[in-house]
Amino acid sequence: MKLSDPAEYVKKLTAVLEVTKAYRGIIHLDVLLSTIVETAADTVGAEASSILLYDDEGKLRFHSASGRAARAVKPMIVEPGQGIAGWTAVNGEPAIVNDTATDPRFAGGFDRESGFVTRSILCVPLTFEGRVIGVLELLNKKDDGKFDEEDQTLLFSLADQAAISIEHVRLQDAQNNYFSHVSEILIGAMDTHVPIKDGHARRVARYARLVATGLGLSDDEQRELYFAGLLHDIGLLKLDTSAEWTRERIELHPLLGYEMIKDIIFWKQLAPVILHHHERWDGRGYPNKLQGEAIPLGARIVGVCEAFDVITSTSSYKSPLPYEMALREMEAHAATQFDPRVIEVLKASISEADTLDRRPPSGSK
Ligand SMILES: [Fe+2]
Repeated sequence: MKLSDPAEYVKKLTAVLEVTKAYRGIIHLDVLLSTIVETAADTVGAEASSILLYDDEGKLRFHSASGRAARAVKPMIVEPGQGIAGWTAVNGEPAIVNDTATDPRFAGGFDRESGFVTRSILCVPLTFEGRVIGVLELLNKKDDGKFDEEDQTLLFSLADQAAISIEHVRLQDAQNNYFSHVSEILIGAMDTHVPIKDGHARRVARYARLVATGLGLSDDEQRELYFAGLLHDIGLLKLDTSAEWTRERIELHPLLGYEMIKDIIFWKQLAPVILHHHERWDGRGYPNKLQGEAIPLGARIVGVCEAFDVITSTSSYKSPLPYEMALREMEAHAATQFDPRVIEVLKASISEADTLDRRPPSGSK
């Protein structure tokens, strides 16, 4: 490729490297895809751009689009081989078409449906580990210009990084989906195994996230606290329900839960929270009699939320305390049983409405 202006080209390539670096920090697929289409259009000076990705049925779907017809094209589906984008997807090769009227591959139906007039197209495949996952498509070079090899090379560099980032976010989504469902299965098992605790884990998870938000913890920490709340009593699953629920046996559940979770890499931050959620601020808790700030913050939060749920919930073996009275009861144990700062934040973060169990009554569908 002969460069028309090498200095200008280097400038553009440097800009591409900068924008693709920013892709790596994006965790939501929709945000990532719209960033990619916008930066791609800017990079080569196109009026519109879109990303098509293969779906489970092997068809290409518009996942993000910019430009005048963005809304109109979003629901459209492209068959493999259909139009220039379909050709690029099937062949895994780029395509430059500077006069759509003379290219037999061009599918005019999309223009008729969207009202957009396509004069020129530049398509590059999005490839990950040797597999085409979709197509990045640019329409109409601005100022009636023509797409050229320089544009194509720049777009290839951008598409390379874009495909890696797309697959990375999809993998994260798949992991989150997997762990959410596994958590649901475990919580369902726990609700059946220890019926007196029915709904307890979900409520504690909800409170723990509210308190974490009130404490100004990061999004990741809030999420961790939510999962820790869900799984804090998971060790109860290891206890034989036919035997008597003695205090000694029940006090084994933090350690049993810790043992169940500690080797799961994705949940390893939850393990210390589960192990220490029954420690007390004054050092008289279990299993390790940790004291004050030696108890992990997450464990102090979950411990407070668990106790708050036990005294307010209808599934408790005692009659539940009304909300205001429950808060006073919790305050009475600040600095002995509980971290006083967490109690303060609990009071500020949880309203009476948050304590209402929104699950449908058992037996309903
Ligand atoms: Fe517990």
